[in-house]
Amino acid sequence: MSEIKIAPSILSADFARLGDEVQRVEAAGADMLHVDVMDGHYVPNLTIGPPVVAALRKVTRLPLDVHLMMTNPDAFLRDFRDAGADSISVHVEVVPHLHRTLDAIRSLGARPGVVLNPGTSLALLDEILPFTDFVLVMTVNPGFGGQRFIEACLPKVARLQRMIASRGLEVAIEVDGGIGPRNARALVEHGARWIVAGSSIFGAPDPGLSVKELRAAATGAAQAAPSSAS
Ligand code: DX5
Ligand code: ZN
Repeated sequence: MSEIKIAPSILSADFARLGDEVQRVEAAGADMLHVDVMDGHYVPNLTIGPPVVAALRKVTRLPLDVHLMMTNPDAFLRDFRDAGADSISVHVEVVPHLHRTLDAIRSLGARPGVVLNPGTSLALLDEILPFTDFVLVMTVNPGFGGQRFIEACLPKVARLQRMIASRGLEVAIEVDGGIGPRNARALVEHGARWIVAGSSIFGAPDPGLSVKELRAAATGAAQAAPSSAS
């Protein structure tokens, strides 16, 4: 089994204390930071841009995983990479020349990823799968933290895992939305490896402890020590 990565999403962090929040999850062993960029057009919410990514870059050594929820991601790839993004994902629903976009991300020195909404078919990955490093399967509709996990996404993750394996590819599956200790293990068992969590980490009283609980749940260690996860 390839490595499970825990990726706290800063969307649910206290933005006035962002540096402290990030250092808490880093100290607790988070593997990367998930950064949700929303433009108020593609999704009905507005969040952050390259200056915040650049500020994060100065306070953490964690890889920055930038999830672009915007109608024109191509226009901002260089800005986000220059700001310090290590991986950049774009929604298959909005990018007209996906192969070109992934190529541009890779040429900038970042890892490219493709994102699918809950209502988007895996069939759209058919041609592009060999050209992406990871696929982000949204497990809520994008736009907000704290939404309820959509159960139908679980078999979708399994189907994607079979699709990747049948082609002999090394493409990681990332999952994002409504994830916490209760459902992380099932997602991993269905093929997910990069686990994004916002409110279940930063909405908890102790985000560092939540990172550890999520990892224990995702790896199955929580079953051996039931008191460490809820
Ligand atoms: C939703 C974002 C998510 C969000 C997840 O559009 O892409 O990354 O931060 O938040 P939770 O974990 O609270 O669902
Ligand atoms: Zn996200």
